[in-house]
Amino acid sequence: MKVLILGAGKMVEAILLGLQNETDLSQYYVYSPSGKSAELLSKKAGVHFVSSLDEVKDPAWVWLGCKPQQLNDLAKLLNGKFPQATFLSMLAAISESEQRKILGVSKLVRIMPNLIVRFKKGITLISSQSATEEIKHVQNLFSLLGLAQIVTESELEELTLLTGSGPALFYEFTKHLAASFTSLSELERENLARMVLSGSGVSLDSTSLGLDDLIGQVTSKAGVTIAVLQEWRRLKLNDLIHDGIDAGKKRSAEISQNLRGS
Ligand SMILES: NC(=O)c1ccc[n+]([C@@H]2O[C@H](COP(=O)([O-])OP(=O)(O)OC[C@H]3O[C@@H](n4cnc5c(N)ncnc54)[C@H](OP(=O)(O)O)[C@@H]3O)[C@@H](O)[C@H]2O)c1
Repeated sequence: MKVLILGAGKMVEAILLGLQNETDLSQYYVYSPSGKSAELLSKKAGVHFVSSLDEVKDPAWVWLGCKPQQLNDLAKLLNGKFPQATFLSMLAAISESEQRKILGVSKLVRIMPNLIVRFKKGITLISSQSATEEIKHVQNLFSLLGLAQIVTESELEELTLLTGSGPALFYEFTKHLAASFTSLSELERENLARMVLSGSGVSLDSTSLGLDDLIGQVTSKAGVTIAVLQEWRRLKLNDLIHDGIDAGKKRSAEISQNLRGS
C-alpha cells in the first residue's frame, strides 16, 4: 500500500522515525517543495524521496505534513491528483470539511500527533467524518507510537493545545523552574530540572494514583513544598494557565479565519 507524504518537517520526521522498525516503510514516499527536507529525511528514515508527485502512481494514502498556512499552496500542487486516495492531515486549525473543500478531496482523516511519537510514547488524536472505514487503519498505525485515540473533531480541536503543544508547555515551565535558583551553573540547573521532569514522567507511568495524591506524597503539612504551592495558588497560577490556553485557542480561530479569507 503506497503512502505519499507531502512535507518533511519536524512532525513527519518524528512519525517516520517512530515507525522505523515498527512497520514496513518500503512503500512510503516523501516530497517537499524545496526537496531538501524530504531528501534528508528519506535517508534518515529509510523511505523513498520523490522530487515530483508524478513519480508516485495511485497512492492509497496521501499524508499532509505542511503548516496550515501552506494549505492553499498545497492545493495548487495537488491540483486534483489522487482522487482515489484517502488523505491524512496533521494540520491544526482547519476543519475537515474546509480542508476537503480547499483540496477537493473526498476522504480525509485528521490527526493531531505530538513529537513524542518519535519515542513511541506520543499521543495521536484522530477524527474523521468522511473516512469512517479508514479511520481504524490510522488508529492501528499510530498505536505503534503510543496512545492513538479516536475523538470528535471538536475534541481534537480543543485538545490540540494539551497534547500537540503540551510538550512545549512543560518545557517552558521547567525552564522557569530551573531559572528560579542560583546554585551551580545555568546549564547544570537546567539539567537537574530536566531530570526532575523526566523522572516525574517515569513515576507517572508506574502508578495509577491521581495527580493530587502524587502531590500529597511530596508535600507535608506546613512544609516547604506546600509553601510554594500555596503561594502559586494564592497568585492564581491556574488563571495564568487558562489565559495562555485561551490565547492559543484564539490564535487557532484566527489562522482558520485568515485561511478562509485568502
Ligand atoms: N511540530 C509539532 O510539534 C506539531 C504538533 C502537532 C501537529 N503539528 C502539525 O504538523 C504540521 C507540520 O508541522 P512541522 O512542525 O513539522 O512544520 P515544519 O517543520 O515547518 O515542516 C513543514 C514541512 O512542510 C513542507 N511544505 C511547505 N510548503 C509545502 C507545500 N505547499 N506542500 C507540501 N509541503 C510543504 C516544508 O518543506 P520545505 O522544507 O521544502 O519548505 C517542510 O518539510 C503542521 O500542520 C502542524 O500543525 C506539528
